[in-house]
Amino acid sequence: MVKGAQRMLWGAATSSYQIEGAWNEDGKGESIWDRYAHTPGRIKDGKTGDVACDHYHRYKEDVALMKRIGLDAYRFSIAWPRVLPEGRGATNARGLDFYDRLVDELLANDVLPFVTLYHWDLPQALQDRGGWPQRETVAAFVEYTDVVTKALGDRVKHWITHNEPWCAAVLGQLIGVHAPGARDAESALRTAHHLLLSHGAAVPVIRANSPDAEVGITLNLIPAVPASGSAADYDACRQYDGHINRWFLDPLYGRDYPSDMVRDYGRKGYMPDGELVFVEADDYRTIAAPCDFLGINYYMREICRSDDVAEEENLPREIPVPGSELRTDIGWEIYSEGLFDILYRVHATYRPPKLYITENGCSYGDAPDADGRVRDERRIAYLRDHFAAARRAAEQGVPLAGYFVWSLMDNFEWGEGYTQRFGLVWIDYETGERILKDSAYWYADFIEGTRTALTSTLFSGAWPGYVHNGAG
Ligand code: FCB
Repeated sequence: MVKGAQRMLWGAATSSYQIEGAWNEDGKGESIWDRYAHTPGRIKDGKTGDVACDHYHRYKEDVALMKRIGLDAYRFSIAWPRVLPEGRGATNARGLDFYDRLVDELLANDVLPFVTLYHWDLPQALQDRGGWPQRETVAAFVEYTDVVTKALGDRVKHWITHNEPWCAAVLGQLIGVHAPGARDAESALRTAHHLLLSHGAAVPVIRANSPDAEVGITLNLIPAVPASGSAADYDACRQYDGHINRWFLDPLYGRDYPSDMVRDYGRKGYMPDGELVFVEADDYRTIAAPCDFLGINYYMREICRSDDVAEEENLPREIPVPGSELRTDIGWEIYSEGLFDILYRVHATYRPPKLYITENGCSYGDAPDADGRVRDERRIAYLRDHFAAARRAAEQGVPLAGYFVWSLMDNFEWGEGYTQRFGLVWIDYETGERILKDSAYWYADFIEGTRTALTSTLFSGAWPGYVHNGAG
């Protein structure tokens, strides 16, 4: 039953390892990211998340910043080894208590908590038993989910099981540039499968412990386009899309793994005997558990050029590849239209009841000027253009319900260490001082405008595509 429109939520996102610090305090166990960052040569600037933004100690100050910006919602993740230091078994009450206090602080400041259960910091104890390539990690994730959602499920009403399973599987287990730093194709496929399976197995547990909550998963999706009209480039595009988008979307929406990719992976020797031996009866049904929303993280598109044929034998490129002026500091192309493309495509093809953009943002190193102000105009332009693309998608009927800027504050950018600054808030890593960048003030005005309709009629009130049919 249609009950009228719901206000679009405007938020910001972070993750535990990237901001918390306190890596071994109050009984926290070691995570695979602790181990990985402590290994010399793994992180670009040789730094770690040991202290990061010291959010563990400064969370009240950080919630006050959210309040100042006027965020409707805040997406953060829980560090599994803070709650279960050994991955399974004994709960660490002090670790759980941190999240309990954080949730209360958010609610007291009118900020809705969106909680991600897994943003890559697996307990090292589980890694020592084989980690995500092992099926028993699925059961461990479900137990962990049960502990967290029992403790917070009365107050947290938005749950995200996993963040970007592609990154955990491919960057972590195939290319080895994220923790645990493995390089093995079959382990990557097993990891992806067990992440998806653990998502589906966790959904009913969350629903039981957190009545009336919304449950979903977050994927990093990348719209792919062929560089030319050649058959080879089209096929490169099919493969890229299959690898990053369809391999995850298809099973989540009841279509099993895409057969063209199963064939390709078999040919590449990714699976012993060319078969998905780790898929058991009923797995697909478990993975496709009905969810309330899909979270999409959008940063870039991919222009696909075949390397199966020599460049000179292929058609000339038709998609211009823009120069460095159209890239952010991390080297990612700025292409706001791709956000429209991926939103519309997911809506048209898979029909999730609701979509959230759970991450979008840009890395720019703009530092405080002599007067202490951070003039990050490029971030403002980036956000404005991407918000407009999202708005166009909503006007075309995409059920978009919220938008989370990555990130609330500068933080530890995985293998890049502290060399990339994605924040609305500047962090001085020497002193821990926080400074709202110009983009944070702009976002504050923007959000205020959506509430009052005084400054921004374009973005005000309910968005056109989204019709709320839940309670309230
Ligand atoms: C995403 C991650 C997030 C952050 C951004 C820049 O892939 O989910 O933690 O690193 O990229």
